[in-house]
Amino acid sequence: MTSLDRRLPPGFLEEALRADARAGLTAEPKSLPPKWFYDAQGSALFDKITELPEYYPTNAEREILRATAGPLAARTRARTLIELGSGSSDKTRLLLAALRAEGTLACYVPVDVSEPALVAAGQALSAEHPGLDVRAVVSDFEERLGFPADGEAPAPRLVAFLGSTIGNLEPVQRAAFLSRVRAQLRPGDFFLLGTDLVKDPATLVAAYDDASGVTAAFNKNVLAVLNAELGADFDLDAFEHVAVWNAEAEWIEMRLRSRAAQTVRLPGIGLTVAFGDGEEMRTEVSAKFRREGVTAELAAAGFAMRSWWTDAAAQFGLSLSVPA
Ligand code: AVJ
Repeated sequence: MTSLDRRLPPGFLEEALRADARAGLTAEPKSLPPKWFYDAQGSALFDKITELPEYYPTNAEREILRATAGPLAARTRARTLIELGSGSSDKTRLLLAALRAEGTLACYVPVDVSEPALVAAGQALSAEHPGLDVRAVVSDFEERLGFPADGEAPAPRLVAFLGSTIGNLEPVQRAAFLSRVRAQLRPGDFFLLGTDLVKDPATLVAAYDDASGVTAAFNKNVLAVLNAELGADFDLDAFEHVAVWNAEAEWIEMRLRSRAAQTVRLPGIGLTVAFGDGEEMRTEVSAKFRREGVTAELAAAGFAMRSWWTDAAAQFGLSLSVPA
């Protein structure tokens, strides 16, 4: 059985995009938040990124989940799995299978802003796990977490936030996000967090600037989203993909660099924007973590980390925490 719950009021995402575009394109320096990458085309490009030889995080996290899903299921005995930013729910299959084998899982709640991705994943997972109550929630985890109300989904609950998506938030937003997750949890619940780890800059930059140009296409897709949603006239070829390692902040920054002086019109928000030759607009930060930092950020939000696993090459970390 599958249900789809739209937690966001009608027009919410459209209005949020307009507000973000207006704010980001009139700021100095210009920026756009990374959540607007993920229309159907962007989600498909992201799926292609996860298959690139340079993009190690997905495989590293899958390696950890393969080894730990069984012990995790035995440890948490979760009856509800809530997954924030579930996307295609690919790695989740390992968790779901282990929790079903454990015999405890009754309810799966994938939460994502992308309704098409949710519907596709929800239907596939329902077919794979007959009898599992799949309750897809369309929500923006930065605004409303979209957790089912008390009593709607049985405890204990395991909340998973995989893929190092938390790295797309800046430290202040991250702290607020973790506190909001913590506020939803009760004793007996668990929080599973995937975090990409600091490593040599060459490996990191290659992961965000692959040889075949898929990440470049993914980055520029945010301009296609603005063209489609706001009637803008961005010429995607007039921008260049840039990925740089910021050693001080310990994050990768993706930017789009204007190849020439140009003017872009966005009739949907009544805006005309000038780009200088070589001007760079930030489109994403992807923070990389260290174990001590993850422990400290979780502790500051009221969590106690109970387990920490990495893949064999220590590229990626997965942590299991409980309410402190
Ligand atoms: C899935 C959001 C964590 O930051 O690594 C991949 C997105 N951006 N390549 C990441 C992404 C460029 C990805 N997250």
